[in-house]
Amino acid sequence: MDEAGTSRVTTLDFARRKEAGEPIVMVTAYDALFASLVDAAGVDAILVGDSVATVLAGEETTLSATVDQMIYHGRIVQRGAKRALVVVDMPFLSYQVSPAEAVRNAGRILKETGAGAVKLEGGAAVAPAVEALVTAGIPVMGHVGFTPQAVHQVGHKGPQGQGEGAYQKLIRDVKALQNAGAFAIVLAMVPAVIAQRVTAATSIPTIGIGSGRRCDGQVLILHDLLGLNEAADARYLKRYADMAAEVREAVSSYADEVRKGVYPGPEHVLKV
Ligand code: KIV
Repeated sequence: MDEAGTSRVTTLDFARRKEAGEPIVMVTAYDALFASLVDAAGVDAILVGDSVATVLAGEETTLSATVDQMIYHGRIVQRGAKRALVVVDMPFLSYQVSPAEAVRNAGRILKETGAGAVKLEGGAAVAPAVEALVTAGIPVMGHVGFTPQAVHQVGHKGPQGQGEGAYQKLIRDVKALQNAGAFAIVLAMVPAVIAQRVTAATSIPTIGIGSGRRCDGQVLILHDLLGLNEAADARYLKRYADMAAEVREAVSSYADEVRKGVYPGPEHVLKV
């Protein structure tokens, strides 16, 4: 980022932010319109999450997201975002089969969207894929703690384990990602004290969601923080607006006016 804050945020800025103790702000977006709004609001990074499958497409899990879908959403988000770093999620099974397949899929994502980085879920098990991507010149954000693509394995969407055992496993995963070359790591639903210890023990920035304020940054799903997705009720979530109610109110006023013959009024019609 330059002094005036106008040039595109890069992965190197993330490292500088951690060193300077300046919190990193990330939010999801799935389209150009919302991307341009959150970009203008000054976020540092926009995550094109595979949560698009649950938030926009109404699926129960993120597993159905495909590389082509992520490329479509990544491309339109990148078009709307002028300053924020755009990070695109790699969907389920696009990086787990082999590092070579991960490189092919992530390469397509970067080439066809113009985004600056990809994100993938998992710890030590995906480190070989992360290393292959970084070697190919593709910046990678990791994601540990609650990993939605493994929902059928972990069995619930809640916070991940507590205690020294949980910390030791998490720190092994985070170090494996760091050593493989990841530039940052999402810590999802990790107990705050553990997230704080992991953040202190890691040289790359941690971006928390439901993991307390001691991470190096925070990420939220845009539709949840705007109150557009009323099904979102996680304890960590703060709603900064009540847009679902506003949408219902606006559309019901429109319907009411159409039915009463009030809309369109004389000011809304073309004159000959
Ligand atoms: O897909 C997504 O939106 C995410 C965030 C919840 C971090 O992975």
